[in-house]
Amino acid sequence: MAARTPIVGGNWKMHLDRAGARDLLRELRAELDGVEGVEVVICPPAPWLGDAADALDGTSLHVGAQNAYWLPHGAYTGEVGAAMLIGTARYVLVGHSERRHVFGETNEDTGRKLSAVLELGLLPILAVGELQAEREAGTTREVLREQVDAALSDVDRLPEGFVIAYEPVWAIGTGLTATPEIAQSTIADVRAMVADRFGEATAESCRIQYGGSVNADNVGDLAAQPDIDGALVGGASLDASAFATICRAVAGAGGAS
Ligand code: 13P
Repeated sequence: MAARTPIVGGNWKMHLDRAGARDLLRELRAELDGVEGVEVVICPPAPWLGDAADALDGTSLHVGAQNAYWLPHGAYTGEVGAAMLIGTARYVLVGHSERRHVFGETNEDTGRKLSAVLELGLLPILAVGELQAEREAGTTREVLREQVDAALSDVDRLPEGFVIAYEPVWAIGTGLTATPEIAQSTIADVRAMVADRFGEATAESCRIQYGGSVNADNVGDLAAQPDIDGALVGGASLDASAFATICRAVAGAGGAS
């Protein structure tokens, strides 16, 4: 089985003014440039993407956008076309639960976004996750399969190292982290879904992060699980030293081999 390089994303969501963003970028650069054994992606709010690209230029840290629209240009007030991110962002979050559940994005929207991002040569981070009621009803697997299948319905082949973030909605911003066992078994299920669609080799190269109340204290046990290839971090990504600790813990867990 080929080794997967784990990947940690810092999703700042809608936080920080410009000065705060620039300060955090400077701190992250100082803490994490050159870190080995983990890929690091910083996802600031859209207005600070250019600042992030400047601040992280020439470092090992990548810039990610939190969202993008699938069409390249046009009369779509307030949207940012995926094509506009070229030269600024390398990664694009697609299908985050807040896009789905706060802004009503459908599985079909997610699929259009994902295809557009891939076609442009940018790298999607596909976020999937079940609601608490869905977990309690025992339908987690069906929900995730629907999300994965719809997002990838127009995709013929996945690039090596494609990234999925499994983020149970009940764990996001709640302090209720999934246990390492729940995260591991659900992520193994997601990997099997990728294998069903694209074959074992693609599934084995696919990196699947866990997200939902990850912090410096709980990341070690999560990252030690064989199928968990890093983390997508919200709240704790706003603190450079906590985020750096998370990245180093993931690197130290060694990833899968
Ligand atoms: P928290 O780490 O704040 O729970 O957020 C997780 C998340 O949504 C990352 O995309």
